[in-house]
Amino acid sequence: MPDYGIATVVALVVASAAGAFYRLYLHPLTHIPGPKLAALTHWYEAYYDVVKKGQYIFEIGRMHEKYGPIVRVGPNEVHILDSEYYNQLYNMTNRLDKYDYFYSMMGNPLATFGTIQADVHRVRRIALGPFFSSKAVAKFYPQVQSVVDRLTERMELCAEKAEPIPLFYAYRCMTVDIISEYVFAHQMGLLDRADWGKYFYSAWRSLWELSPTTRQFPWMIDVIMSMPRWMTKLTDPRALEVVDMFAEIDHQTEVLLNSDSKAVEAQPHPTVIWELSKSDALPPQEKTPKRLAVEANSLIAAGFETTGGTLTLMTYLVLSHPNVYQKLLAELEQAIPDPTKIPGSLVLERLPYLFAVVKESLRVSVGAYSRLSRVNRYEAMRYKQYNIPAGTAIGMSALFVAHDEAIFPDALSFIPERWLEPDGSIGATALRLEHYLLAFGKGARGCVGINLAYAELYSVLTTVVRRFGNRLELYKTEERDIEAVHDYFAGMTRRPDGSEGNGLRVLVKKQK
Ligand code: HEM
Repeated sequence: MPDYGIATVVALVVASAAGAFYRLYLHPLTHIPGPKLAALTHWYEAYYDVVKKGQYIFEIGRMHEKYGPIVRVGPNEVHILDSEYYNQLYNMTNRLDKYDYFYSMMGNPLATFGTIQADVHRVRRIALGPFFSSKAVAKFYPQVQSVVDRLTERMELCAEKAEPIPLFYAYRCMTVDIISEYVFAHQMGLLDRADWGKYFYSAWRSLWELSPTTRQFPWMIDVIMSMPRWMTKLTDPRALEVVDMFAEIDHQTEVLLNSDSKAVEAQPHPTVIWELSKSDALPPQEKTPKRLAVEANSLIAAGFETTGGTLTLMTYLVLSHPNVYQKLLAELEQAIPDPTKIPGSLVLERLPYLFAVVKESLRVSVGAYSRLSRVNRYEAMRYKQYNIPAGTAIGMSALFVAHDEAIFPDALSFIPERWLEPDGSIGATALRLEHYLLAFGKGARGCVGINLAYAELYSVLTTVVRRFGNRLELYKTEERDIEAVHDYFAGMTRRPDGSEGNGLRVLVKKQK
């Protein structure tokens, strides 16, 4: 028996040495510059992302400073830093897969977002896309505005009591209520919770913090989900929050699918999961309750944190730049004489200064910090003199384009004016810069929720600024509460629960 043990160890050592030799000297990516450790093993990435908590993307930035615009960032993966290449990689004609290793941390290959193969994705996207067209979103807009109104009503109640408002959480409550209304025709009711949805956020946050680890060990999520409740509670109480949250979404999907069709169809807007369950664009195996629950879960995840995060940053940016705030307020007061009657987002997005503030906030917020790695299974790709063989993962991060000084001079500053013509109108400059605004990604896998996201951004900023005007101010919020210091797919701030930071808090002064 001991002989077998020794033989196994020797075989493992030889196999690992041969694998390492192959990756370093024989692999088709040996001509791509980069640190040897990154070429050798995923553990290099894991060190930065797991141990140092979502730091690999910043390390990739440093690698580019040293090695140039293309770097081998993993055994089979390159990263490109070149703003002109983004639209070449992410477009409608390259039918690229998502990189399964990279996206495994989402644990959701059944959802449109997490689908790996381009051809499977195409079927799902064709079915899902129409519910997020600008026409469909315009139909849903009254519901968006009614949730925003509920937010400002609750803020007004806080003003009465001179209570600070944890807007970091409040915005997430609102985006969850909006997306859950659209997905299930049933709001999760976060905006009414006394804790401003802190428990809900904390569950998701635990999941995102775990995501670099589940990328290395993708089976972890299944293990957590299949554990008996008492065992999960014993091993990690935060995981229990995640299990409960997933169970709630499964339950809501089930309730919806068993609803009376007349009641669902009487809604003033389509209900996404219901419509998908009846869709002719999907084959039966795509319409099982399990897949629809996964889709619902993913839509909620994709729709709430991204939009909530952008709203948080946008509000902080305008409040911490009083000149911007006053200019915006003046434009809104002139365009909207009655603050109880906020026009639709299609009207709002034509207001030049508001438009510029929204675009600049999206640029500064970046959207996904992560490299969005893609694989061309069929053809080699080229970057300058470099051949990138078929099957290689290629990623780019919007972070580096957002900070490209050649495109956005003084890129670290918040300057809405950069989006406008010298006379303050919307014109050719906005068109040129839009090409480099990558918050929503681009191409076939670009954000399906972009129209809904814009509707929310315009509605919230306008409503909050127009209704509260000069009564609104920051409350004990510093840059360290707001800056994105972790890459957990989206850029994330320090925990906002007081343990590391406090998120965005504001005060609305009492009405005189
Ligand atoms: C400011 C808000 C938002 C930002 C910055 C944002 C950003 C992004 C980005 C960068 C991607 C590409 C991800 C990748 O390539 O892996 C994406 C995809 C996606 N987003 Fe958004 N998003 C926002 C709002 C929303 C909303 C409101 C929804 C609502 C449903 C949504 C649903 C999705 C879905 C389903 C995908 C996957 C699309 C596909 O693969 O076909 N997003 N989003």
